[in-house]
Amino acid sequence: MAYNLLKGKKGIIFGALNDQSIAWKVAERAYDEGARFVLTNAPIALRMGTINQLAEKCEAKVIPADATSLKDIDNLFRESMDILGGKIDFILHSIGMSPNVRKGIDYDNINYEYYHKTLDISAFSLHKILSTARKHDALNEWGSVVALTYVAAQRTFVGYNDMADAKAILESIARSFGYIYGREKKIRINTVSQSPTHTTAGSGIKGFEKLEDFAERMSPLGNASADDCADYCVTLFSDLTRKVTMQNLYHDGGFSSMGMSLRAIQQYEKSFEECEPQ
Ligand SMILES: NC(=O)c1ccc[n+]([C@@H]2O[C@H](COP(=O)([O-])OP(=O)(O)OC[C@H]3O[C@@H](n4cnc5c(N)ncnc54)[C@H](O)[C@@H]3O)[C@@H](O)[C@H]2O)c1
Repeated sequence: MAYNLLKGKKGIIFGALNDQSIAWKVAERAYDEGARFVLTNAPIALRMGTINQLAEKCEAKVIPADATSLKDIDNLFRESMDILGGKIDFILHSIGMSPNVRKGIDYDNINYEYYHKTLDISAFSLHKILSTARKHDALNEWGSVVALTYVAAQRTFVGYNDMADAKAILESIARSFGYIYGREKKIRINTVSQSPTHTTAGSGIKGFEKLEDFAERMSPLGNASADDCADYCVTLFSDLTRKVTMQNLYHDGGFSSMGMSLRAIQQYEKSFEECEPQ
């Protein structure tokens, strides 16, 4: 059901790779709510993914941009304002990639060149986007920026590797710029900390299925899906949340406030019995 929550709003959505991507669901939902936006992704992702299908469905233009390149981001803002006919009201940062995770290198044995790449792509990109937007004065007053994150920024999850460090930095950048943008332009910047979700980036994490199952058992409301996340992001882009800023907002069915659940105990007892000597 649509409520016209984003009628007249103009946005930039980073990170729709294929129809599993969280950004893909956000784009569909934002379109249903009346927004117009530009889609962007790294040039290689445009070749490998199916973003053009989404663009057609949402009547959106696609602009290639490597989110680590200041030149690309600069061009992205210029072109987006041109295409959309003015300043931007909302931005979704839905970008994450770790070469260490991809190549199965453990955290204690990390490749430092890859580590830099992880941080550049997954965290510093938000800084580059926000500082470039500020130079262009590209965002409208009462605009909204959302970046997607994960609870591994606060607690250690085996297998999440250097992405945990990237998410901690990402959340801090959102707060630091949240102050500057709030003070100057009444623009809000938040991070949404999402449940494990079946996507290309998500399923690259070692032991992802078990992590997802554990989170499902621990969360009183169950894991939040990509569609649920899209609903939440739309509220944050809308005028209904104008005084929410500099927050890390958990969107995880209650997982982050749980210690132990009945469902997890039941599963633990089961596996405990299995381990008893015959
Ligand atoms: N899937 C999960 O379990 C989960 C949970 C919490 C948070 N998140 C976060 O959600 C966001 C979206 O991930 P997703 O799960 O939808 O997976 P996804 O693989 O669909 O999206 C990740 C996107 O990052 C883009 N990207 C990578 N390098 C880039 C670069 N240099 N420049 C521009 N874009 C680049 C990819 O092309 C891709 O579109 C990420 O920040 C991820 O960490 C995911």
